[in-house]
Amino acid sequence: MNNFQRVSVWSQWMRLAHWSIALSVLVLMATGWLVANAPSVAAGAGDLHGYAASVLMAGLALRIWLLFSDRGVGGWEALVPSGTNLPAMKQMLIFYFTLGRSPLPAWYGHNPLWVPLYAMLYLFLVVMAISGLFMQEHPLFAGIYLPSIHRAFAGIITGLALFHILTVILQDIRGKRGDVSAMLNGYKLFDTERQDLAGPGKQFPAVSIDNIGRDRKKDR
Ligand code: HEM
Ligand code: HEM
Repeated sequence: MNNFQRVSVWSQWMRLAHWSIALSVLVLMATGWLVANAPSVAAGAGDLHGYAASVLMAGLALRIWLLFSDRGVGGWEALVPSGTNLPAMKQMLIFYFTLGRSPLPAWYGHNPLWVPLYAMLYLFLVVMAISGLFMQEHPLFAGIYLPSIHRAFAGIITGLALFHILTVILQDIRGKRGDVSAMLNGYKLFDTERQDLAGPGKQFPAVSIDNIGRDRKKDR
């Protein structure tokens, strides 16, 4: 029987940033679609779009602050793809192509294949915020029609967000670490045999899976 250790991976600030961005983007996708396609409710949807945009910008500001203040998984270095991750990225692609039937590679913080996609997603969300803020007063900026930019990037972000949700669900079902609940409570489960994942100079102490949960009171 394998031993597992509950390890804190996502700080409360990272989780706050993730969920304020995630929930606001879902509302922005729905209300943006209504603004463009449902004239009878466009005014109300436009108001809601504005409120959700404020939540998104607050979440993005927090996440950008974490990029520079966090020394761990929240720091900018964690969103730069590294050559050492290439085998895990390849294994992850095979995992998707076989719809989760081939083994899920092991990693500590971010899914290695998604590292460049997360960085791109943040960049695109900044483009959405800038185009959304200025497109009504100044639709034309340096020869670029901002509403077209806003619409085009909305499509790309919608595709990425839906694919992200599907893949984290698949990752959670096929993996043993509890990836989705980790984004809620901060903790992942790691096999103590995989000491290489604990990070430089760190070690997972061996804890039987039967004891997981008994440390909850102590953690709080
Ligand atoms: C992922 C984030 C977002 C998505 C998916 C999104 C999507 C959309 C879409 C599809 C439209 C309709 C465009 C059309 O008429 O064809 C729209 C309109 C608009 N968006 Fe966004 N948007 C996002 C973020 C933002 C942000 C952050 C802001 C402001 C800071 C913003 C401000 C606006 C404004 C002002 C409009 C025009 C609304 C109106 O006519 O009442 N959006 N958005
Ligand atoms: C609503 C369902 C969602 C769930 C259950 C969920 C869950 C997760 C999980 C488990 C991770 C860590 C995945 C990993 O790399 O292994 C993650 C990361 C991430 N998610 Fe989501 N997510 C959701 C929606 C969204 C949406 C709508 C967005 C925005 C477009 C989003 C943006 C991100 C980003 C940018 C990261 C990287 C974390 C960072 O470094 O900041 N998520 N999510």
